[in-house]
Amino acid sequence: AKPEPLKIMISGAPASGKGTQCELITKKYGLVHVAAGDLLRAEIASGSENGKRAKEYMEKGQLVPNEIVATIVKERLLKPDAQENGWLLDGYPRSMSQATALMEFDFQPDVFILLEVPEGLLVERVVGRRLDPVTGRIYHLKYSPPENEEIAARLTQRFDDTEEKVKLRLRTHHQNVEAVLSLYKDVTLKVDGSVSKEEVFSQIDLALTKLFEDRKATSGTL
Ligand code: AP5
Repeated sequence: AKPEPLKIMISGAPASGKGTQCELITKKYGLVHVAAGDLLRAEIASGSENGKRAKEYMEKGQLVPNEIVATIVKERLLKPDAQENGWLLDGYPRSMSQATALMEFDFQPDVFILLEVPEGLLVERVVGRRLDPVTGRIYHLKYSPPENEEIAARLTQRFDDTEEKVKLRLRTHHQNVEAVLSLYKDVTLKVDGSVSKEEVFSQIDLALTKLFEDRKATSGTL
């Protein structure tokens, strides 16, 4: 039988490197990346009423109300590609109520990755972050600079990537993180996120390779 697809959650403070690691994980493991923040930014770009409301909270670094974010995430997880290939859920759940709502729908992770980065590094990562609107890739002016002038010229910055706003986002993170961690402690993989992105990925890759091999062995495909 085909092994069960992997289901992974990734968590960590703002700018701890979740999106960066998701790029690397999906490239190797073919999972569907479901990022709450990206889904909300797409909702804002669509000009919908929900998008307008979401932006008010995001500008203040606060959690967007569940009635907006929960449905968007749940619908994305239920799409056939995520069901067939497995999912990598990024930035969700961020509160006890979001986690319990997921459990009611039986969305349980095989592993909950927690990126640990000292606070002093986070502000620098946020203010130097740039995004390529064409490829969706994440860059950093110092740590992950664009490959050429053409890309450099089109890079954009997120509206909540200022020093002032990241401090608000960090406060929200600290208020909510413990409750979520306590629910997933049996499947938590703590990763040192302060090293280079390649070194962070090798810690994750090691654990996922093992999980993947175990899956194949138990389903009899090895
Ligand atoms: P969201 O978009 O999820 O933002 P966040 O959690 O603050 O995380 P970021 O996307 O800022 O950072 P990241 O960890 O992905 O880091 P990245 O890889 O880009 O959420 C935004 C807002 O949406 C929230 O504030 C909230 O309002 C709302 N929201 C989201 N989820 C919600 C939910 N569940 N419920 C309610 N509201 C919700 O890396 C950052 C930078 O560092 C980059 O420049 C990168 O190149 C660089 N970098 C990465 N790794 C390394 C490394 N190892 N070494 C050096 N530099 C690195």
